[in-house]
Order: sequence, then C-alpha cells, then structure tokens
Amino acid sequence: MAILPIRLYGDPVLRRKSAPVAVVDDEIRRLAVDMVETMFENNGVGLAAAQVGLSLRLLVADATHRDGGDGPRVFINPEIIDAWDEWSFDEGCLSLPGLSADLMRPEGILLRYHDETGSECEEEFHQLWSRVLQHEIDHLDGRLFVDRMSPMRRALMERKLRELVKESKNVSL
Ligand code: NI
Repeated sequence: MAILPIRLYGDPVLRRKSAPVAVVDDEIRRLAVDMVETMFENNGVGLAAAQVGLSLRLLVADATHRDGGDGPRVFINPEIIDAWDEWSFDEGCLSLPGLSADLMRPEGILLRYHDETGSECEEEFHQLWSRVLQHEIDHLDGRLFVDRMSPMRRALMERKLRELVKESKNVSL
C-alpha cells in the first residue's frame, strides 16, 4: 500500500476528461487500495484517479461516518442515470485545500458502475454518499466544484485560487 501525492488546482491533469477503465484487474484493484489509503491519510471522503495523476474513470468514496455504510467503496466507470431533489451542502476538495462553498446538487442519484470485482451494479445513493459521488464524477470529466459556483462567488474566490496555482507550481513531485 502507498500514500500517493495529490495533484493540486492548476495541475492540467485535473482538467482532462478521464478514459474508461477497460479491464478491472489486479493493477486497478491495487490502485484503488492506494487511493483509499491516500483518501484516509488526507481525511477525505472521496478521491478520483485524476487527483493522483491518472486519467481513469475510477473513484473511491467513504461517507460511512456520516450516513452509514460498510466503509470505503470503489466505483469504476460510474454513470449517473437518474437524479432528483435538490440539496445544499458545503463542499470542499482535496485538490483545493482550504476552500469550500455551499453548492446545490441533486439529493439522490441512481448510479450505474462496476465494482472492484468487475461486476456491473445499479444502486441508489443519498445525502453525503450521493454528494461525494457527484463531486468525484465531475473530476472524471475534468470539472471542479468551483466551476459550479455563481460567477460572483467565484470572482471572490479567485485570489485564493491564484495562490493555490502558485503553490502547485512550487510543489515538485
Ligand atoms: Ni475533489
């Protein structure tokens, strides 16, 4: 197991559209284990492969502490096939440390995905599980939570964002 370095705002990999995972094999499962370790190490509730520099449609999530569940989960090639109701939540991101914003998103989603065994599943998610999955799926499409803020709120955050870009260029990994 390994803790992987997290890519920060300003890194172009965060803006790329990730490619589907072709085969769910041991290499993918090892990567998922490392991503779970990395998520826990950084006190996160979700992490997308792009955030560790890999443009793959793979994410890990764990909202068990708040909304129940059986611990960390792996989602491969996830696709939201239905969404309903609205819910506001203060959202942050491991790639934008120290920043957060109240965002409206659907409360519930129906998700189609492959699990770590490669099986295709369909499952409903709510509250924080649903929120984390929507946030991480945005990452798979090169989208960040700040893109969903109103232009005025985003303008207020611009200075902090520019500082983050500067920092990310100073970090050599
Ligand atoms: Ni994020």
